[in-house]
Amino acid sequence: MLEGYTSNPIVYYAIIVAILVGVFKITVFSLSFISLLLDLFILPPTDFAKYGGNGKWAVVTGASDGIGKEYALQLAKKGYSIVLVSRTQSKLEIVAQEISSQFKVNTKVVAFDASLDSEENYLLLEKAIFDLPITILINNVGQSHSIPVPFLETSTKELKDIITINNIATLRITQIVAPIIISTIEKNQHKIKGLILTMGSFAALLPTPYLATYSGSKSFLQSWSNALAGELQPQGVEVELIISYLVTSAMSKIRRSSLTIPNPKQFVQSTLNSVGRRNGAQERFATSTPYWTHALMHFGINNTVGVYSKLANKLNLNMHKSIRTRALKKQARLAAEKKD
Ligand SMILES: NC(=O)c1ccc[n+]([C@@H]2O[C@H](COP(=O)([O-])OP(=O)(O)OC[C@H]3O[C@@H](n4cnc5c(N)ncnc54)[C@H](OP(=O)(O)O)[C@@H]3O)[C@@H](O)[C@H]2O)c1
Repeated sequence: MLEGYTSNPIVYYAIIVAILVGVFKITVFSLSFISLLLDLFILPPTDFAKYGGNGKWAVVTGASDGIGKEYALQLAKKGYSIVLVSRTQSKLEIVAQEISSQFKVNTKVVAFDASLDSEENYLLLEKAIFDLPITILINNVGQSHSIPVPFLETSTKELKDIITINNIATLRITQIVAPIIISTIEKNQHKIKGLILTMGSFAALLPTPYLATYSGSKSFLQSWSNALAGELQPQGVEVELIISYLVTSAMSKIRRSSLTIPNPKQFVQSTLNSVGRRNGAQERFATSTPYWTHALMHFGINNTVGVYSKLANKLNLNMHKSIRTRALKKQARLAAEKKD
């Protein structure tokens, strides 16, 4: 048919190749979109019995508030005893009490400041958990910038705290907990699996100006978690990075939930219901964007402008500049009110 349009064989084969590439791209896109819909809306919730269920333990970091507290509550509801790790002992004890009053599981509390990166703290954790049959680790602890800030104006303390809490502490805690998970799997003759979930962020999915250090720290977790997924898979441990856009919490400073901003309960429910699936992160190994509107946003951006595009970067810059302007105005207003 094409001979009628061109007698030049180079043009002829170029058109054939273009058509084949087009068909390939449309097929990949369609299959990926179908997989997204199956993951989000059709497939049944993950069966947590495969991680051992009743009698087994989960370690949750950043468990005294927000998303981490919700992970602890929902895993306890599934029958897991919980090691609650966080900074503030009194807040952890309240969560432990809430869990014990609602569910027939045990709790342990380990309080330390993860920004200190002290051997003492890691030893404290190790001593508290070494003999527990742990099968799940939720690496949830994290810190962002107090308000969006240009990288060159970021204070050394904030910069160090973000990297220490989000990266160093997460890696050190995983080095303590993962061997215990592997040993629990071995003691159960490999009849059960282990699970390590780590909280990523849209701030890393899209490089985010004015949150550069936080953005970089979460990007680090994407690569680290994916690499670990490959390493631990033969030992029966599933490792997954969880990507989230905004969720109502102390960190996001957003109180009211909306279509694109779930509360921690909704967010964690969608995460635990779909462990092992990619949802919005169809292009990424061992990664999930579980909340349905976040998943559609991830899929949409990835298949249009692209997460690393100049346009995405520019829009993100403008958005965070404007958040900074509002945050500075609020700070000035509060300071003035304090003076009066
Ligand atoms: N909320 C969002 O919009 C959002 C979006 C994407 C990703 N994420 C990620 O989700 C995770 C949880 O965020 P969240 O919004 O639930 O945060 P959050 O409500 O502020 O809770 C943070 C938790 O981490 C603990 N923590 C903070 N600094 C600590 C430190 N230095 N040492 C030990 N524990 C410390 C806090 O303990 P205490 O307060 O008791 O001291 C608290 O339990 C983070 O990794 C975050 O990056 C959140």
